[in-house]
Amino acid sequence: MKLKGVILAGGTGSRLFPLTKVTNKHLLPVYDRPMIYYPIETLRDAGIKDIMIVSGRGHAGHFLELLGSGREFGVNLSYAIQEEAGGIAQALSLTKEFVDSDKMVVVLGDNIFEDNLSEAIEEFKKTPIGARVFLKEVEHPEHYGIARVDGDKILEIIEKPKQFIGNLAVTGLYLYDNQVWDVIKNLKPSGRGELEITDVNNFYVQQGTMKFDLLPGWWADGGESIDTWLEANNLLARKSKTSIPEDVELIIRETTEKIVKETMKLMKSQASDTINDFSSKYKKIYETTPEKTEEAEKENLFKGVANDEKDAPFDINNYYKKD
Ligand code: G1P
Repeated sequence: MKLKGVILAGGTGSRLFPLTKVTNKHLLPVYDRPMIYYPIETLRDAGIKDIMIVSGRGHAGHFLELLGSGREFGVNLSYAIQEEAGGIAQALSLTKEFVDSDKMVVVLGDNIFEDNLSEAIEEFKKTPIGARVFLKEVEHPEHYGIARVDGDKILEIIEKPKQFIGNLAVTGLYLYDNQVWDVIKNLKPSGRGELEITDVNNFYVQQGTMKFDLLPGWWADGGESIDTWLEANNLLARKSKTSIPEDVELIIRETTEKIVKETMKLMKSQASDTINDFSSKYKKIYETTPEKTEEAEKENLFKGVANDEKDAPFDINNYYKKD
């Protein structure tokens, strides 16, 4: 079975006002590229070629102008228009025909992942039914969908919890099977008037078919606030400045392996020298008879007296006594 990619890039971006007053948040720069480049690369690096971008009516032309057919990225891009902002799940429903009978990887256009997610995505491809999400610890759980977890099970996901229930955010990359269309059809708008992706996820949680991975690398939600957008810029800038070219990395890895091997060899031979040395000394002590030990003790006693005398004031009687 194939996996289709969906990038959701709608919304008003009101949390980034006035930066998003005339442009779409996903077109804002994050370090040296427009934000939308990152989710495209995440999908492409996971081997997904067919991708649909959903954007709002006002900026759809800009996406087309910027990304075209997707050739530059090595992917095939299609486009859909979300006439009015109605939430992430509503935007996803617009891609039903494109996804057809395949499974899908849905990524929010403002989410930037350091990790390569292809292994988990490949695994998901093989599971017959269900969904999969990626969790990451966050400092402000009140800004995200937060998962309550017990071992390898998600018990429940709460969207932007007012009380602290944990700090594991559900990041904006979701893997779904084809049940998702029926789930969306039956959703009711939330308090903020949107069809929430968290309600979709909770369907799979209740069905017992939701899996998750904890992300080891960093993750940035570039659209959460001006601060997270700035943080994403800084992270990407640091990463690009410290990144090592692949061939140099190979040389470093090979040299390090050699050094470790040689050091291990040296340590082993030194350790065996020390053990030999120790066991021969131990043998000597063991072989010393009690009489010999007594003799040695006397010798030490005498040495002690001699040392004491050296420091003692000169006494002529002592001198004669000794001779
Ligand atoms: C959305 C989801 C939320 C998720 C977040 C990740 O929030 O509703 O569950 O944790 O994306 O970026 P939004 O950015 O729409 O507030």
